[in-house]
Amino acid sequence: MSKMIAVAGKGGTGKTTVSAFLVRYLENTGHTPILVVDADPNYTLGEALGVEVEQTIGTMREEFFGERVKVPAGMSREALLERNMHATLHERKNYDLLVMGRQEGPGCYCYLNNILRKFTDTLAADYPWVVIDNEAGMEHLSRRNTRKIDLLLVVADHTIKGARAARRIVELADELELDVRDQALILNRAPEEIAPEVMEEIEKSGLRIFAQLPADEQVAEADAKGEPLVEISSDNPIIQRLDEAFKGWLKEAL
Ligand SMILES: Nc1ncnc2c1ncn2[C@@H]1O[C@H](COP(=O)(O)OP(=O)(O)O)[C@@H](O)[C@H]1O
Ligand SMILES: [Mg+2]
Repeated sequence: MSKMIAVAGKGGTGKTTVSAFLVRYLENTGHTPILVVDADPNYTLGEALGVEVEQTIGTMREEFFGERVKVPAGMSREALLERNMHATLHERKNYDLLVMGRQEGPGCYCYLNNILRKFTDTLAADYPWVVIDNEAGMEHLSRRNTRKIDLLLVVADHTIKGARAARRIVELADELELDVRDQALILNRAPEEIAPEVMEEIEKSGLRIFAQLPADEQVAEADAKGEPLVEISSDNPIIQRLDEAFKGWLKEAL
């Protein structure tokens, strides 16, 4: 059975940054192959990983729905759709990146969405590791048939508001009836010492702190220049802290 790690949080908190470094860590430690899913309509994980995104499930679906595809003789529409979905995978040596893209268009996609859901579920089952960079609403997670998540990482800023948002994510996961086996908080752009009022809010969420990450020039700069985050050298403090936290978790989880 695959191990699934989902990264959630409000927009701009650092989900994609954490996801990219998680993929990097799994790659470097031989926890491969990985299915990497960018489920945020505002997809940037490809950039962070240095993968040029050519196609998304959204654009493929648009094309399919627009009947711009011809179904070859002897092939069912469903089989063709699956083949096209497979073609949107960006295949790399240790991982395949699936970009969901824009989820809703003007038409009704019920039929396509059902097949899609089945496709992502069966696809994920083929990989020992699955990493999902989510959108704030965790739509994608709620739509899956398989709801097991081995680790839900909630990313939040070091503010009272941020900690409250993290708490709402935990509540949302509950409402969506996700089968979360473990969950923890990544406090991003945090000082060494957590402010007591922020800590109080964090405690209310029930989340333990998985990692505390400082604001980092190198990360901000790489992102501003559009350079892949995964090319940052491993002595970077964010990478070091995340690697250590991932290592500790894997030791427990395996
Ligand atoms: N610890 C950090 N230090 C500096 N910049 C950061 C840090 N974490 C994230 N960023 C920057 O903040 C922005 C938002 O981060 P991102 O990971 O894209 O958030 P999300 O995926 O949650 O929207 C990006 O420009 C990113 O480079
Ligand atoms: Mg993002």
